[in-house]
Amino acid sequence: MRKLTAGLFMAAAMMTSTVALAADPIVIKLSHVVAENTPKGQMANKFRDLVSERLGGKVEVEVYPSSQLYGDNKVLEAMLLGDVQIAAPSLSKFKKYTKKLQLFDLPFLFKDMAAAERFQQGPAGQKLLSSMKKKGILGLGYLHNGMKQISASKPLRVPADASGLKFRIMSSDVLSAQFEAVDAVPLKKPFSEVFTLLQTKAIDGQENTWSNIYSKKFFEVQDYITASDHGLIDYLVVTSTEFWDSLPSDIRGDVKQALDEAIEHGNMIAAQKATGDRKAIEKSGRSKILDLSDAERQQWVDAMKPVWSQFEGAVGKDLLDAAIAANN
Ligand code: SIN
Repeated sequence: MRKLTAGLFMAAAMMTSTVALAADPIVIKLSHVVAENTPKGQMANKFRDLVSERLGGKVEVEVYPSSQLYGDNKVLEAMLLGDVQIAAPSLSKFKKYTKKLQLFDLPFLFKDMAAAERFQQGPAGQKLLSSMKKKGILGLGYLHNGMKQISASKPLRVPADASGLKFRIMSSDVLSAQFEAVDAVPLKKPFSEVFTLLQTKAIDGQENTWSNIYSKKFFEVQDYITASDHGLIDYLVVTSTEFWDSLPSDIRGDVKQALDEAIEHGNMIAAQKATGDRKAIEKSGRSKILDLSDAERQQWVDAMKPVWSQFEGAVGKDLLDAAIAANN
């Protein structure tokens, strides 16, 4: 009788925990480093809202913006450990896992965002989504931010103006080579430190998109911004293969659909902000925007483009050729 009671008790306990498990939603933590009023911030919030509308009770998305949870150098490790399920680092921040994505940092490679989009959606760009699968990272899609500009404490019209100045860069060897090519001093620092480094004049400048310069107020602590469009900041929205494979297939399909729509929304915001945030900075009068003449811009191209040959081996000629072809 005692055995029977214990058995019944255990069965009841197991049933209760199964019910509790079934009732627990799958939590997707999405950690990023930028402000909410940016393409990435808006994409993340849209994803959270779409999942809540369509999968409420089954899946819950928690968004952590502005490096609240993890800075950009830690988020991929956290994702592989299962502390975060989705991240969207800039394409410049994957060098520990693949050298191929260094392609996106090559200066003056894509003439505009439409060219980058053509490459990303073409066969070579799509293949890159699974280039880190063996390391446990799966690319779910590309998200745009925009073309990069160079801000500084002094006017930069030609490469010689940057000589000897210290620039914060993302953790990318290509970007390091790019600034060394103009005799400047590149410093790899997390995004969360840029404002303070500029404010305290520990560095002289940085490169970023109009949206990041505006939303993180870099324009308030930099006197000049050179409208150089010399590169881009785009993101790879990633998950861990372990987490992705663990999702029931119907849920995985619905989550992917919501993410695709959120990325489309983020890309629309990116296009708006590329012009809107530039105008807002102009209107503030806090930072002077320098537009380059064709001859001035050509000097930057001539100085920086030789960097391509340093990285062609690591990136792969096929990939480089496909990116160049996307400009036409
Ligand atoms: C980001 O847009 O996610 C950050 C870019 C940067 O580190 O400069």
